[in-house]
Amino acid sequence: MESIQSIKQRFEIIGNDVKLNRAIEKAIQVAPTDISVLVTGESGVGKEAIPKIIHSLSHRKHAKYIAVNCGAIPEGTIDSELFGHEKGAFTGATATRSGYFEVADGGTIFLDEVGELPLTTQVRLLRVLENGEFLKVGSSQVQKTDVRIVAATNVNMFEAIKKEKFREDLYYRLSTVEINIPPLRERKEDIHLLFRKFASDFGQKYKMPTIRLDDDAVQLLLKYRWPGNIRQLRNIAEQISVLEESRLISLATLNSYLPNSSSSNLPAIVGKEKKEGDFSTEREILYKVLFDMKGDLNDLKKLTLELLKHNDSEKVQEENENLIRKIYGDDEEEYAEQEESPSEILQLPEPYIEKPIVKSPQQEDKYHFAEEIQEEETLSLQDKEIELIKKSLERNKGKRKAASAELGISERTLYRKIKQYDL
Ligand SMILES: Nc1ncnc2c1ncn2[C@@H]1O[C@H](COP(=O)(O)OP(=O)(O)OP(=O)(O)O)[C@@H](O)[C@H]1O
Ligand SMILES: [Mg+2]
Repeated sequence: MESIQSIKQRFEIIGNDVKLNRAIEKAIQVAPTDISVLVTGESGVGKEAIPKIIHSLSHRKHAKYIAVNCGAIPEGTIDSELFGHEKGAFTGATATRSGYFEVADGGTIFLDEVGELPLTTQVRLLRVLENGEFLKVGSSQVQKTDVRIVAATNVNMFEAIKKEKFREDLYYRLSTVEINIPPLRERKEDIHLLFRKFASDFGQKYKMPTIRLDDDAVQLLLKYRWPGNIRQLRNIAEQISVLEESRLISLATLNSYLPNSSSSNLPAIVGKEKKEGDFSTEREILYKVLFDMKGDLNDLKKLTLELLKHNDSEKVQEENENLIRKIYGDDEEEYAEQEESPSEILQLPEPYIEKPIVKSPQQEDKYHFAEEIQEEETLSLQDKEIELIKKSLERNKGKRKAASAELGISERTLYRKIKQYDL
């Protein structure tokens, strides 16, 4: 079996992210079979390499590989494109034509943006997947074909099914094996690597010295949300390579190329190390909240025990001053410690930056203030939690066991939360 490394070289895939490696490994594993594969992931993450890998490692490698962009073919002609038509089937059908499923017999068809297929075409596709049979448009003669299908989508298929835009039975047929490509923002270690690769490529292409980012610009590169993923990163590397005179790119210069960033929003970076409270993933946020909550709970347990033992609240208060401060946050220093200077936080407009939760103390009525902050945090964290649970359930096709394992919580807790949030 060819190694992940050599596949990456062959298909010019840059990156060492664990999830990316797992995706490639899965492609290598399923390649020799005829199993249908659905490649999922946001726009621009690099889904198109996967069907190529699968085809080239399969027994079909000497037969045809046809990539069809289902979103780009008009609804009126897609059936004819895919399955062919008979002469006279519709106005303009002056001759019989073979479709991709006939031409690619023995090979592989990559159905890109499969979520865009019209419902009528989905019925035809389901039939091909089930027994290899199809009909040309305008014909009643059943034809047979032997095609392996790899599909890709950047839309949420569960949503599409819910909205009755996509057939559920077809979805399960297509996604016997699902390969997910992670978004760039979750591949922090690959971002700069990819940028350097693109910078070097464009330096060569345009016969100019390669651009380089200064340290602050690298931090911005890592903090940015990259909604267009690798495609966007590549475009930006190209634009900067061509348009900038200086080959050392500053934070301000890079910022000016990122959509929705403006000079008035220039981020100021002081610390370069990852600080406490500087969360890079949603999961980290959730873990931090859970750990904090667990800590608070233990402190409260201790306090309750003391109260029960001594039955003298004043004495307990005196003796447990520190603990009480810790739990209720009624302490100037404690706030000062937790506070992050705004200058240490990258300030970019939403939704492009994953924002850390920032507490800023301004207290006369500290107790009231603490309540406000808590409520705000609880709300946004609740939203995050709901989103995380939803996403995980989607990814795991509603399987609670897998989702709870992924979220790092017990199945029972997950069940409770599903009920609580009415998911
Ligand atoms: N790991 C990678 N290394 C180098 N280049 C990459 C990598 N992944 C993607 N690219 C490049 O990024 C661009 C976008 O990739 P691709 O077209 O596969 O995206 P996609 O996931 O199909 O997006 P969409 O859903 O919008 O079609 C391409 O130019 C591709 O060559
Ligand atoms: Mg694509």
